[in-house]
Amino acid sequence: MNILGISCFYHDSAACLVRDGVIFAAAQEERFTRKKHDPRFPKNSIRYCLEEAGITSKDLDHVVFYDKPFLTFERLLMSYLTVAPKGLRSWLEAMPLWLGQKLHIPKVIQREIGYEGDVLFTEHHEAHAASAFYPSPFKEAAILTIDGVGEWATGSYGLGKGKDITLLKELHFPDSLGLLYSAFTYFTGFKVNFGEYKLMGLAPYGKPRYKDLILSELVDVKEDGSLRLNLSYFDFLGGLRMTNKRFAKLFGGPPRQPETQITDREMDIAASIQSVTEEIVLKMVHHVFKETKQKYLCLAGGVALNCVANGRILREGPFEDIWIQPAAGDAGGSLGAALSVWYRYLNHERTIQEGQDSQMGSYLGPSFSNDAVEMFLERNRYPYHKLNSGNRAQMISQEIAAGNVVGYMAGRMEFGPRALGARSILGDPRSEDMQSLMNLKIKYRESFRPFAPTVLEEKVSEYFEMDRPSPYMLLVAEVKRERCLPQPSQDGGGILNRLKVKRSDIPAVTHLDYSARIQTVKHEDKPDYHDLISEFERITGCAAIVNTSFNVRGEPIVCTPEEAYRCFMRTEMDILVIEDFILYKREQPPWKEDKEWRNELILD
Ligand SMILES: [Fe+2]
Repeated sequence: MNILGISCFYHDSAACLVRDGVIFAAAQEERFTRKKHDPRFPKNSIRYCLEEAGITSKDLDHVVFYDKPFLTFERLLMSYLTVAPKGLRSWLEAMPLWLGQKLHIPKVIQREIGYEGDVLFTEHHEAHAASAFYPSPFKEAAILTIDGVGEWATGSYGLGKGKDITLLKELHFPDSLGLLYSAFTYFTGFKVNFGEYKLMGLAPYGKPRYKDLILSELVDVKEDGSLRLNLSYFDFLGGLRMTNKRFAKLFGGPPRQPETQITDREMDIAASIQSVTEEIVLKMVHHVFKETKQKYLCLAGGVALNCVANGRILREGPFEDIWIQPAAGDAGGSLGAALSVWYRYLNHERTIQEGQDSQMGSYLGPSFSNDAVEMFLERNRYPYHKLNSGNRAQMISQEIAAGNVVGYMAGRMEFGPRALGARSILGDPRSEDMQSLMNLKIKYRESFRPFAPTVLEEKVSEYFEMDRPSPYMLLVAEVKRERCLPQPSQDGGGILNRLKVKRSDIPAVTHLDYSARIQTVKHEDKPDYHDLISEFERITGCAAIVNTSFNVRGEPIVCTPEEAYRCFMRTEMDILVIEDFILYKREQPPWKEDKEWRNELILD
């Protein structure tokens, strides 16, 4: 039984194939089209899923779309009528896509992939909820979904039990925590749906001095975590912007222009909205606990990618444990929709292995055999050396320990925005200048942005204030107290000076507030990666490494050997590993490109 789930037309298009109830393949369209957050119909993702399963669209038993477009259209129409004639321009801009594609999903699917059967639809938050609960390791759990907006819903909670999901309550547009966060993303000069992560990364640099202002003027938060936005400050009902002049006045001036200097104001705004978000999420979580009386909680929706808030849910929340869908944003809707058909529509029983989720480490994308990689290297005459199982981990970890930066591509590509050791750039976390080196010379991005560690699962509590696995890099916790070093006064000095102060014995992955966004790896999930870090520990005594996604700023994570090689040559990376092959920069022929490639990337 093959079920194809599709999510597209908003942001982060993706496809997922569920075969006999097992998540068989999943990938995001941006990885194939090389256009970050690509919202278009996921033709390439679907082609990949079918190829991975060795089938054609004729062999699909069901195709399901993750959203009900008519309900979304109704919401847009109502929003427009509320503010009309204001908003006419954005309404007219949106219409062609609606009339041409979005309202005719079955036809589009038939045309694009030749699928003749009926197309099923789930509601947007139903798909998020299914993506959170079904792959989780829990037989029974509470579910909480929070995002910008689905059809009408901006959040929902409910209960998962075996194969059943019951959604109990929804929060509706325009009252949305996701949109509130995105409004601040826009106001601080980052791109909406792109730069939310940066805002979160910026927060530790500031003081939450606007928090009370946000809570008194912009958003009214109830005890149960539900909220009401004061729409006189926002412009997303009819405008093309998120915030208006009144909003700007409240924060002492216009929005920061993208790519201009980040000032104390932006840092303080980031700290404030992050703190408000955490407070709202914690209230929601407490309410869901009270209403469902469950031990465990599952999370999805774009806001569930806020790993600082997730860390607090785990530490301060009432639930014993939580599980977060790694593709928590709309890409994961394809996975949730497909699983929803298997369990809710077709009524299959759900069995789980105690303590084991069924997300497959989220290694659900394309992989390339050693033969294919060798052919690629030979064809292009790129100098390489072969590794074998006896020396692989040692050769690579020696390079990392010597201060080199390694592009690492091995096995199936990750599904979800985080690189988890299949398409990663690796470095030595003990190095004091690794953070600025990797930001400025490898990723070509803002120097304030923190890096995350991967640590051996069995050693996590030796390095961090955390006692459990975090396989998907969705939890933030503090670096172990005894590893931290005191910092001088936090005031003044600018971002760059504050970055230079060593904060722990793993400075490259210790954020300004001593926090780290942690990925744990266990041997059975990804043996090559676990072996590599184990070997690094044998050489250096350190069981963690720096892991950042294999891409430069504005580019989707690499998928193929060709993209990996290109990214390697465009940056100051020293070493490239693709499967069992190692390439040294010093041995490569000079890299030439006709155009200035950086102009082609959309800055986020
Ligand atoms: Fe969503």
